[in-house]
Amino acid sequence: MLILGIESSCDETAAAVLEDGTRLRSSIINSQIDVHRKYGGVVPELASRRHIEDIYPVVQEALDKADVTLDRIDGLAVTRGPGLVGCLLVGLSFAKAISFVKKIPYVGVDHMTGHLLSVFLEESKPDFPFVALVASGGHSSIFFVSDPVTFHIMGRTRDDAAGEAFDKVAKLLGLEYPGGPAVSRLAKNGDSRAISFPRAWLSPESLDFSFSGLKTAVANFVQRNNRKGIFPNVPDICASFQEAVVDVLVQKIIRAAGLTGVKSIVMAGGVAANERLREVMRERCDIKGFKVFMPSLEFCTDNAAMIALAGHYFFESASTLTHDMDVYSRSLGFPEWHEEEK
Ligand code: KG4
Ligand code: ZN
Repeated sequence: MLILGIESSCDETAAAVLEDGTRLRSSIINSQIDVHRKYGGVVPELASRRHIEDIYPVVQEALDKADVTLDRIDGLAVTRGPGLVGCLLVGLSFAKAISFVKKIPYVGVDHMTGHLLSVFLEESKPDFPFVALVASGGHSSIFFVSDPVTFHIMGRTRDDAAGEAFDKVAKLLGLEYPGGPAVSRLAKNGDSRAISFPRAWLSPESLDFSFSGLKTAVANFVQRNNRKGIFPNVPDICASFQEAVVDVLVQKIIRAAGLTGVKSIVMAGGVAANERLREVMRERCDIKGFKVFMPSLEFCTDNAAMIALAGHYFFESASTLTHDMDVYSRSLGFPEWHEEEK
């Protein structure tokens, strides 16, 4: 079965062709970083206009690289949400048009579930059930995953997502967009114990995340120093901030694994590309006896291979959608995890 995946939820136009859920025949990602960099963040209107220009050539390139035409494609998988509505509409309308003209069935994929299934693009795959941390620009969530199409939510973002905190801290330090890679690059030359930034554990039982207090603490630290005429050590700030984010993400997902009794932990999403996070996750999972699975760097950030893969599982299990299906900007929500799911 050949699936064509399409992703356009934010600032990447991407298309991929996946065969039988295992063989990735092509994966094309066209990043819009050059468009948004001068604004220090994604400008939604510019992003959707750029998607309109790029979607056709990107899909064509994915088909060419896979050495197939649309006549060979058995199913289409397209991101429906969450994301920027104007951007999502470009991908969805494109998929609907292909579906209508070529009579190819299509499924809409939730971007978050695409991220957490991206580990299955790798050789080494986790057994079900597992817990998954998805840390991206828009979300930091913990899921209990029973099978490729059944997800329960255990924890979610209360305010700023982890990636958003990286982006905002980078902006206030005058670093370039996107902030995550810029902060982590500088952090390598900094001392993570130099500044004691707060960790928002919320209540002891909570698996939810809150990073806006941490972002404010960094802003206050910089302002306080500026008022005293001290130019703060930026690598130290980056390393100390990064450590605070990593600490919370790793401790909460390990606690979730302990609560559910699973043996495997998955970590995905753009922030999962962070080297320090990967290192600490491996170390602590080793100590606690959990197996950890993370996608390679190319599949952490937005791509269409993960959407094609999620689509593959949906085609195997569920019915396809009608042409009146719409996009959504915020998560539609997942059922809550309860003890009984164990
Ligand atoms: O998953 P993704 O590509 O897009 C969304 O679904 O949001 O994640 C993008 C986010 C951005 O906030 C970016 O700053 C962050 O992932 N990110 C990183 C790193 N690479 C990307 N954060 C920390 N360290 C990184 N190396
Ligand atoms: Zn994403």
